[in-house]
Amino acid sequence: MATKLTQLLNIKYPIIQAPMFLVSNVAMVTEAMKGGIAGCIPALNYRTLDELRAAIKELHHNKVEGGSFGFNLIVNKSNLKYKEQLRVLCEEGCDFIITSLGSPEETINQAHKVGIKVFCDVVDLKFAKKVEVLGADAVIAVNNEAGGHRGNVTPENLIKELVANCDIPIISAGGVGCKADIDKMLSYGAEGVSVGSPFIASIEASVTDEYKQACVEYGAQDIIMTERISGTPCTVINTPYVQKIGTKQTWLESVLNKNKKLKKWVKMIRFSIGMNATKNAATKATYKTVWVAGPSIEHTTEILPTKDIINRLIN
Ligand SMILES: Cc1cc2nc3c(=O)[nH]c(=O)nc-3n(C[C@H](O)[C@H](O)[C@H](O)COP(=O)(O)O)c2cc1C
Repeated sequence: MATKLTQLLNIKYPIIQAPMFLVSNVAMVTEAMKGGIAGCIPALNYRTLDELRAAIKELHHNKVEGGSFGFNLIVNKSNLKYKEQLRVLCEEGCDFIITSLGSPEETINQAHKVGIKVFCDVVDLKFAKKVEVLGADAVIAVNNEAGGHRGNVTPENLIKELVANCDIPIISAGGVGCKADIDKMLSYGAEGVSVGSPFIASIEASVTDEYKQACVEYGAQDIIMTERISGTPCTVINTPYVQKIGTKQTWLESVLNKNKKLKKWVKMIRFSIGMNATKNAATKATYKTVWVAGPSIEHTTEILPTKDIINRLIN
């Protein structure tokens, strides 16, 4: 399964265990590396810079031949810690950074100085061309089957369009739950895949057993979009609680959103409330649960160690 991604990261299989807010952790990524793939953690999973630094050190210690690790940075203004997180990553070192939301220019410049590769989340050709010009090492093409803040274009159309128009490798994110899905993405021209939702129901994930079990019991047809978490549409499991609160913004939010001056603030406040709601759902087993996941949980039939999930993806 050698591809440009396996060469770029020195990994055995062309798979990245995708960064997931409050789900990914050092244990998961360590198992990912042992399984011959790359693993990535959102820097925002760490409350303090010291905790982030300690996690990087631990991953350096746990790193094995054939695996690699990276961090996800939210590079727009909603992440107040962005510059400091970037500084810590560059000081401690890691194999790659995945940027999301915003211009990756500064991250690319700083990371390249210390030999860290930068992959950028994109949902369309326009942004892919932009990050290519800025010097990104690859793009993560987030399609309309991804979990979280998904894109709008089907995997096939997005990969083919990017492959035809970009020179850097295309890594496909979204909708991969088994080996056949990986083969399909590679046949469209992708150099690898970034897989998130199937790893939620791993023994190592930092979320409640209820959340993991929901990924087992619900399937692709139970995934819906909601604006209620962060203001931006996000995929969640359609639990009775989600049905009760609805998926649209409230009347007040939409009125405020129409006001240009207030819009920015409403978005920031909503984002922060949303992060807390997700955090509660991820850490507390209450009936008020909003569980982020994508349709690729379809193949999840039991809670398994990360290594077994990787085996399912490669065999
Ligand atoms: C629970 C969850 C949390 C996520 N958190 C982040 C995040 O913090 N940063 C990010 O760039 N992407 C995030 N994503 C998107 C993933 O990195 C990845 O693009 C997506 O999971 C791919 O689709 P899949 O779930 O079908 O594999 C998240 C996805 C899920 C399911």
